[in-house]
Amino acid sequence: MENETSIIIATKNKGKVKEIWHFLKDLNINLLSLNDFENLSEIIEDGKNFKENSIKKAKIIAETFQKLTLADDSGLEVDFLNGNPGVYSSRYSGENATDKSNRDKLLSGLAEIKDLNERTARFVCHLVLWDPQRGLLFETDGFCEGWIGFEETGSGGFGYDCIFIPKGFNKTMAQLSKDEKNEISHRGKALKDFTGFINKNKFLF
Ligand code: IMP
Repeated sequence: MENETSIIIATKNKGKVKEIWHFLKDLNINLLSLNDFENLSEIIEDGKNFKENSIKKAKIIAETFQKLTLADDSGLEVDFLNGNPGVYSSRYSGENATDKSNRDKLLSGLAEIKDLNERTARFVCHLVLWDPQRGLLFETDGFCEGWIGFEETGSGGFGYDCIFIPKGFNKTMAQLSKDEKNEISHRGKALKDFTGFINKNKFLF
């Protein structure tokens, strides 16, 4: 890209913004997030799945600011809880949910499962790039399989990281470095696809 392109990351979640910024920092893109704009009304995430929510967020923000917009919708699916919290991951414990209250609810829901092998779960991310004139330019999914631990361990990352043990590790996602998490995470995998797309399609920007 000869002139620097601006892309809005359609989230206020500082944990996500940090991860996405860390991943895309070497591309010649001016990255903005919803924290750079004031008086934005909240976008209601009422889609049935991650794809519907990410498209809704990307389209509204792209059309409002007339700028390319990257939106991810992500969450945690726990097999014993029939795939919950899923699209409700950020508000699992109700309206005023915090990351901590969501983790507490999840751990209580699994209290009877004493065998780690039965506490299987996965992080899922659907990532979308939307152009205000051309619509959907790119979409992909990323997954990260693992288990829900028995207690909180580690202080990195955000959300459910300190109770999620990714496959291939005997520590939680919150004990990994930023680079290790980006290498294996659902969002990292989707962002890797995205950087491949940007590098192959520079003519689009
Ligand atoms: P979203 O902003 O609607 O996509 O909500 C995503 C929610 O899923 C977050 O608030 C977290 O609770 C959870 N989540 C998504 N990705 C991660 C991650 O990488 N680590 C930990 N929790 C995550």
